[in-house]
Amino acid sequence: MNDLLTSDRLPGLIQAAYILAAILFILALGGLSKHETARRGNTFGMAGMGLALGATLVLAARNSQYGDQRPLAVTLVMVVVAMAIGAVIGAWRARTVEMTGMPELVAILHSFVGLAAVLVGFNSYLEADHLSGSIGTIHDVEVFLGVFIGAVTFTGSIVAFLKLSARMKSTPFALPGRHLLNLGILLASAALLAWFVPAEGDLGLVPLILMTALALLLGFHLVAAIGGGDMPVVVSMLNSYSGWAAAAAGFMLDNDLLIIVGSLVGSSGAILSYIMCTAMNRSFVSVIAGGFGSDGAVSGEERDYGEHREVQADEVAELLADAKSVVITPGYGMAVAQAQYPVAEMTKKLRDKGVDVRFGIHPVAGRLPGHMNVLLAEAKVPYDIVLEMDEINEDFPDTDVVLVIGANDTVNPAALEEPGSPIAGMPVLEVWNARDVIVFKRSMATGYAGVQNPLFFKDNSRMLFGDAKDRVDDIVRALG
Ligand code: TAP
Repeated sequence: MNDLLTSDRLPGLIQAAYILAAILFILALGGLSKHETARRGNTFGMAGMGLALGATLVLAARNSQYGDQRPLAVTLVMVVVAMAIGAVIGAWRARTVEMTGMPELVAILHSFVGLAAVLVGFNSYLEADHLSGSIGTIHDVEVFLGVFIGAVTFTGSIVAFLKLSARMKSTPFALPGRHLLNLGILLASAALLAWFVPAEGDLGLVPLILMTALALLLGFHLVAAIGGGDMPVVVSMLNSYSGWAAAAAGFMLDNDLLIIVGSLVGSSGAILSYIMCTAMNRSFVSVIAGGFGSDGAVSGEERDYGEHREVQADEVAELLADAKSVVITPGYGMAVAQAQYPVAEMTKKLRDKGVDVRFGIHPVAGRLPGHMNVLLAEAKVPYDIVLEMDEINEDFPDTDVVLVIGANDTVNPAALEEPGSPIAGMPVLEVWNARDVIVFKRSMATGYAGVQNPLFFKDNSRMLFGDAKDRVDDIVRALG
């Protein structure tokens, strides 16, 4: 065993395993881009991670034979115990998490990556004080940047987790002059870098700790300033930051696999953020700068939109049976109520009666990309009647009845009509252009972005109150 661990060939074998793992991760990302190949993508990802963990375990065992005074058995026990704790927590969370809770789980996982980068940075700085010359300078810059990105990711992801899990208000928390504050933190961090790099011995700890405190504040402030409606973009942005934090940790630890995987996550997160920004009509730069849309004023809440009107399930069933064309726009409430199965049954009954039924899916409906598509596919709604927002928006004026099932922000006309709204500029499903709109929800409460929805008060809208699943069940029964 000792011969193997001290063999000259071992580093080459570990590098080969890392390259193979990196290829498997690339194949995993490719597979996950389409739902037909997603399962295969996951298998590649698991195989890559298994290989990477195995190779890292061997590397840790080899390192314990050199320099490090710790006995091999102690090193192995420490690594295996840490892995076992992580595996148990991971398996438990993966089994218990509801699909609607997925984004907040992803957000908290990003915070772990950020925290790990901060801890690795401090450890690497304290251990590597023997480095001097240009190598020392490069290492110091790596440490500084790694800790900075990690700290921003850490607090930013915790705020995202709190907002997504409704433990913190989703409305923007915007201090006056917030962009100047962010800029000030960046400039102060640059000055601390200039202090940190030439500092001798452990004296650099002071600027490092000061910068960490500022970066933690920056992460909090950047994400707190963002309104609920824009959280999807933020989550993918934090995904990207966590990748760069991991890549920075890879540089500090001199671990090629971590550099490759971190860069893959960082760049794919950045591409996803860009796609989301385009879909939501947001500028990429203003997302990074934190807080866009209004200056924190939540419009609509105080405004008097007039009276809403109610309707009963049997009346809706009659309206639907007499309609030629029906569009269903589902949202987060359909996921909460698990109403997709009766919705599929209702769709089938109406189609059997000759009604043209289609679905209009907003890119950020629900709480994760593709949320509604997955639910509808699960309930066996045919793919060809499930259309994207851009494909259906022009058809609403020719639609008899729209059923808004548990959607709110994604059908809110304030996005187009009220420039001060936190969701201003976000493209929405223009359901109000249809002849009749029926809104399924439990109360007059606001949606995720915390803004009132003028749709509910329009002359052609009626509210069908109650749990979406119960109400759709009632309609299915009334349809006979
Ligand atoms: P939301 O604006 O979240 O509104 C959902 C509505 O469903 C609520 O108004 C709620 O009203 C209703 N509801 C909840 N439970 C219900 C139940 N059991 N039965 C009937 N109705 C129920 O929905 P949306 O239109 O899908 O918009 C999504 C929002 O989430 C956007 O702001 C988006 O930016 C944000 N977001 C999206 C993502 C992604 S990637 N999709 C990620 C994070 C955040 P009541 O309480 O009155 O019932």
